[in-house]
Amino acid sequence: MCGEKLRSSTATSLHVAAFCVVVAATIIGVQGSHKVYPELQSLPAEKVDETHRTGYHFQPPKHWINGIFCPMYFNGLYHLFYQYNPKGSVWGNIVWAHSVSKDLINWQALEPAIEATKPFDIKGCWSGSATILPGNKPVILYTGVDKHNRQVQDYAVPTNLSDPYLRSWVKPSKGNPFIDPDRSVNASAFRDPTTAWFVNGEWHTVVGSKRDMVGVAYLYTSKDFKKWVRAKEPLHSARGTGMWECPDFYPVSPTGRRGLDTSALGKEVKHVFKVSLDLTRFDYYTIGVYDKEKEKYVPDLGSVDSWAGLRYDYGNFYASKSFFDYKKHRRVLWGWANESDGEARDKDKGWAGIQLIPRKVWLDPSGKQLLQWPIKELEMLRSPDPRKLNSKVLKHGRHVEVDGITGAQADVEVTFSFRSLDRAEPFDPKWADLPAQDVCHQKGSTVPGGLGPFGLLTVASEKLEEFTPVMFRVFKKGGKHVVLFCSDATSSSLAKGLYKPSFAGYVDVDVSKTKKISLRSLIDHSVVESFAEGGKTVITSRVYPTLATGTKARLFLFNNGTEEIEVDKLTAWNMGKPVMNVPLNKGASIN
Ligand code: FRU
Repeated sequence: MCGEKLRSSTATSLHVAAFCVVVAATIIGVQGSHKVYPELQSLPAEKVDETHRTGYHFQPPKHWINGIFCPMYFNGLYHLFYQYNPKGSVWGNIVWAHSVSKDLINWQALEPAIEATKPFDIKGCWSGSATILPGNKPVILYTGVDKHNRQVQDYAVPTNLSDPYLRSWVKPSKGNPFIDPDRSVNASAFRDPTTAWFVNGEWHTVVGSKRDMVGVAYLYTSKDFKKWVRAKEPLHSARGTGMWECPDFYPVSPTGRRGLDTSALGKEVKHVFKVSLDLTRFDYYTIGVYDKEKEKYVPDLGSVDSWAGLRYDYGNFYASKSFFDYKKHRRVLWGWANESDGEARDKDKGWAGIQLIPRKVWLDPSGKQLLQWPIKELEMLRSPDPRKLNSKVLKHGRHVEVDGITGAQADVEVTFSFRSLDRAEPFDPKWADLPAQDVCHQKGSTVPGGLGPFGLLTVASEKLEEFTPVMFRVFKKGGKHVVLFCSDATSSSLAKGLYKPSFAGYVDVDVSKTKKISLRSLIDHSVVESFAEGGKTVITSRVYPTLATGTKARLFLFNNGTEEIEVDKLTAWNMGKPVMNVPLNKGASIN
């Protein structure tokens, strides 16, 4: 099948190789979100299995969730709307569930904001976004599936703007759908309108789509936010990439970490364009320039669309959405992590899907990539008495337990250093055409190396029957060095039938100057979110240990390279449990 794609596609061999790998991955384990399971979709959970539920990640008490998670800051509160199946633990019966928070960490649940009730959304209320209109008026744009199974774009507004929680939303019959796909558009692949931005006296939004294998971001404009007209040309498109789900388009400041409002423009301002590729189930972004006269987005030279390009996260992270946080003047990114354990297990667990920790995003000083870091508020969950290690030497073949903390629910920051790069292994030229994930799989944590592999063994059982290494390996390539960063689920569980990928990405860092590399891992029972070198490369793994559960999960440091590694500094915190989606009763106030 991948051979056929090779002949029919315009992609380069590298693209195709990567494509084949990710498609294979999709087939063996990553769950698609629109597959209907008639016998499971309306089967309420009889019980909820807590074993792999997360302690501090966003989850409802039971059943299926998926992205986009539509975030919004309004009048002192954060709102999160998400795709939710109230009747079962697989995708189906989707409503827009609604939660509110003061700090993005503690959440309380409200009634669903949008349900499938009108002719223009009777077969589904799918993803979308929120925009705050002048006069401080929020509006949700979302995709409705009508009775002919056409994807149309709808809007909803709060019924009572003076209700601080915006509990109730209405989808006016007048003006809905506000975008009907005309004949030139593929109405079964036309969804997920973006947060609107205002430029040239008009509102703009983009809807994700495809024409054959061309991924397309259709651009629509409106003077009054009521009547929308399709622009002659899409904002952006790319051949051979298939359906573009959940597009996101936003400005980033060329310097500093402050975020920008979605409508912000300026001479030096750059733009980020992100798509969730349905074919691969990863989120890819480019950095480029928004030409407001031509109404076009043009990626910078070297910033490549699709699977040869940059990912927010090289692991289980999809259907993400960013928003501008007016309270803290930052851009915050949210991603969804689905399960890697299959529908039958989801039914037994009684739940599926988690929301990852919100990340602040900003442009790297190089201008070539974004940096991501867990929002500061997460630190409120850190225990007051962290475990600390300094100047600890890791000799070849050693692993050392970080005791005194629970390895199931922790936040770990560590800096590794080394004296020399002489022992770095040569980078095999064959790997240049392989996804980093394949290189990681070949050179796992137990394959000895020169400079690395070293790092953490997370969610590990006492005797290491189960462990998920989050690790670095440094290679020599020409006169330079290449840093491979892996989060490898291969040995994460003794259970059979799981998808256990060796997720990996490269880190754009010149270690020959610093001879150091840093890592932060957020470990939470069945998820490990890891940030290399201050958020240059990020990887999320889902894991389902059988032995390393709850208080039995451990954390180790390890080095399997011949070059000695020093742990300059490690700080590991046990993480507390926030208020997680406790219902906020009518008349009550949020905590
Ligand atoms: C993303 C997505 C969106 C769609 C929604 C349906 O996972 O497929 O494209 O609107 O989920 O739930």
